[in-house]
Amino acid sequence: MIIPINLGEKSYDIVLERGALKKAGELLGISDGRSVLVVTDSGVPEEYVNTVAKSFSKSYTFVFPEGEQSKNFETYMQICQTLCDNSFTRKDAVIAVGGGVTGDMAGFAAATYMRGIDFYNIPTTLLSQVDSSIGGKTAIDLGKIKNIIGAFHQPKKVIIDPEVLSTLPERHIKNGLAECIKMGMCLDKSLFDIFTGESYMDDIDRIIELSLRAKKSVVEQDEKEAGLRKVLNFGHTVGHAIEASVPFGELYHGECVALGMLPFAGNGVKERLTDVLGSCGLPVSCTVDRKKVREIMTHDKKSVGEKISVVKCDEIGSFYFDEMTADEIMNLI
Ligand code: GLY
Repeated sequence: MIIPINLGEKSYDIVLERGALKKAGELLGISDGRSVLVVTDSGVPEEYVNTVAKSFSKSYTFVFPEGEQSKNFETYMQICQTLCDNSFTRKDAVIAVGGGVTGDMAGFAAATYMRGIDFYNIPTTLLSQVDSSIGGKTAIDLGKIKNIIGAFHQPKKVIIDPEVLSTLPERHIKNGLAECIKMGMCLDKSLFDIFTGESYMDDIDRIIELSLRAKKSVVEQDEKEAGLRKVLNFGHTVGHAIEASVPFGELYHGECVALGMLPFAGNGVKERLTDVLGSCGLPVSCTVDRKKVREIMTHDKKSVGEKISVVKCDEIGSFYFDEMTADEIMNLI
């Protein structure tokens, strides 16, 4: 199945197909003679990386240690250095094979190397398949502040193969489901309702498709997050702060998004959301250092009274924006 993302000159296709990874060379359509750098992390099965790399006559591979702690200037610089050392020019390309960290960082290197070269994404985690691989957000972290340095750089093509999820640890699957639930909560009741059934994993292809369609509808209307796209941050204001307040890797991104959605779910939907998160094995409560969470949320120890924009949901499949002070948000947690 092809899901087109219509963004004028920056339009591209998402190929959603079981077995697509094996056909990556043909599906990506990168012409012979162009150099490609496959960027991946140590957690991605070598077999996936080799399958992609061997599809191209001039391919190089860059592997970095798995995890958010790699999403920094050092790794970004190493990717750029690899491009430079191998004489990549503007006609060459970067391909990400991995999760959200890989896509964000490879995308940012592609966005900035020689002021921008082509970028292709083959996401291999559920979270990156349903969310971060589309929409063109690329970034690295600065210390504990996530995604603070980045650029919008749309991929030329995204290949999503649900079969690769068979090698993904269960906790990573749950991590991705949180973003699907987010999309269902705010944008598509039929997607949310899948999670109230007995065995949603049987419907994983449909969950991926509906999540992509929900995200497509938002990104096509608001590529650069001037307004509407902020809906995708549902659960992220508090979620990012929780994630940064605990040691790297202790809580996964999706787990923090799950926790971050609950304070902004209205009374009429909070119970259903809690049930769905619980049945997907996602956390519905945790112990946090409130002072740290507040500080991270504001990026500024002294900020008092400044409004933070938040997304709220009072009815499944709908949302609204609101502005709250950090103290008002803390009162909800
Ligand atoms: N992951 C949120 C966005 O793409 O806007």
